[in-house]
Amino acid sequence: MQAIEKNIDTSIAANLPHLITSLPGPKAKALVDQDHAILSPSYTRDYPLAAKKGYGAMVEDVDGNRFLDFAAGIAVVSTGHCHPNVVHAIQKQAAELIHMSGTDFYYPNLVELAQKLASIAPGAEAKRVYFGNSGAEGTEAAIKLARYHTKRDKMIAFYSSFHGRTMGALSMTASRAVQRKGFGSLLGGVFHAHYPNTYRGTFGNNPEHASADALDYIENTLFKRIVDPEDVAGIIIEPIQGEGGYLPAPADFLKALQAICRKHGIMLIADEVQSGMGRTGKWWAGDHAGLEPDIISTAKGIASGMPLSAIISRASVMDWKPGAHASTFGGNPVAIAASLATIDLLEHQYIENAAKMGEHIFKLTADWRERHKIVGDIRGKGLMIGIELVRDQKTKERAPDLRNRIVEMAFHKGLLILGAGENALRFCPPLLIDEEQAEFAVRTIDACLTAVEKSM
Ligand SMILES: Cc1ncc(COP(=O)(O)O)c(C=O)c1O
Repeated sequence: MQAIEKNIDTSIAANLPHLITSLPGPKAKALVDQDHAILSPSYTRDYPLAAKKGYGAMVEDVDGNRFLDFAAGIAVVSTGHCHPNVVHAIQKQAAELIHMSGTDFYYPNLVELAQKLASIAPGAEAKRVYFGNSGAEGTEAAIKLARYHTKRDKMIAFYSSFHGRTMGALSMTASRAVQRKGFGSLLGGVFHAHYPNTYRGTFGNNPEHASADALDYIENTLFKRIVDPEDVAGIIIEPIQGEGGYLPAPADFLKALQAICRKHGIMLIADEVQSGMGRTGKWWAGDHAGLEPDIISTAKGIASGMPLSAIISRASVMDWKPGAHASTFGGNPVAIAASLATIDLLEHQYIENAAKMGEHIFKLTADWRERHKIVGDIRGKGLMIGIELVRDQKTKERAPDLRNRIVEMAFHKGLLILGAGENALRFCPPLLIDEEQAEFAVRTIDACLTAVEKSM
């Protein structure tokens, strides 16, 4: 794999941040003001980063400040910003065929990507693939397929999960009330179970019983009092909760959930929109538990920033008839070209790098709970790492205000990060970061933690 550097702006091909104005700089400030006057006020921006260009793990803002990007456009640019191979694939495809609509016509790269995704999905049975444009569309397709295939209509999702914001997906999402407030009634027949929390305990105590408590709720409360399992079409779960706080479900829980699904003919839907495509050091977060979902939903990291999502299911499950479900743009040729280039890079370099850099970060932060009284938990896999901040390690009182301050402080030190859940920091950098960048991020957050603790 040779990097093709033609037509790429590599002027910011540095490794570390460099700030030349106070933040926001004058151009960023002007842009933010214009943006606030015209864009939907529903967007949530934590700090005023006004991006102009990106390369690798670096982003340059409109004033020429350079940042190290540990947010990756919300875990999207898996191969970094504007990877030469991805840019080249996009440019080549755009000059050849931009759109055709795979719902009505045929084109080669649609088949090629479907075959590739089928080959990397777990499980012996042959697969089929459906393409959409966003994570939420993946969720919609998964719900519809589960209902169609099972001829049942009930769904189970988990508290603190995030599956998207379209009305069907929102009915699964149970992350923050503000995401539901004002929108009226959602899809009926959706029930929420408790996600196993190995830090706090599923019900706020006994972390060591997290899996057993979460399973017990499903089998002995949900199934006995609220919904008969024979009525349930699908259970949708993020193997590592993303927006919910970068919280992994234990392997024993995932395997037991799979067994429950098999026993009752329920479709197990793994929402790997955030955790998939190599971010955790394996193709799928579920791979760490040997999970074989009936339906996998993927988006975000699939095409390095081009809009694309896919659901991959067992072939016998995807039995809907022509006309049952489709989308004009789903599987757009240019997005697919970007995805094929992305997958090639992930397969040959970056999944392994994600595992290696993740381990490096876990090593560097191993003593943080001793050194920092506000660090409650550090968890995750590969480059999907959550750091939960608390006011007190004993009481585990959540510290959302301290988390928000650290996100803001990091920005002023040239590091872009995001929060996750009520009170966690998340690391979700591009999967190509090197040791120097990993160490810079760790050093920066270490300094922010120390500063915040001093002020308490
Ligand atoms: C696990 C998961 N599923 C679904 C979605 C929705 O994706 P999108 O914003 O592309 O609709 C997200 C977005 O954060 C996600 O993290």
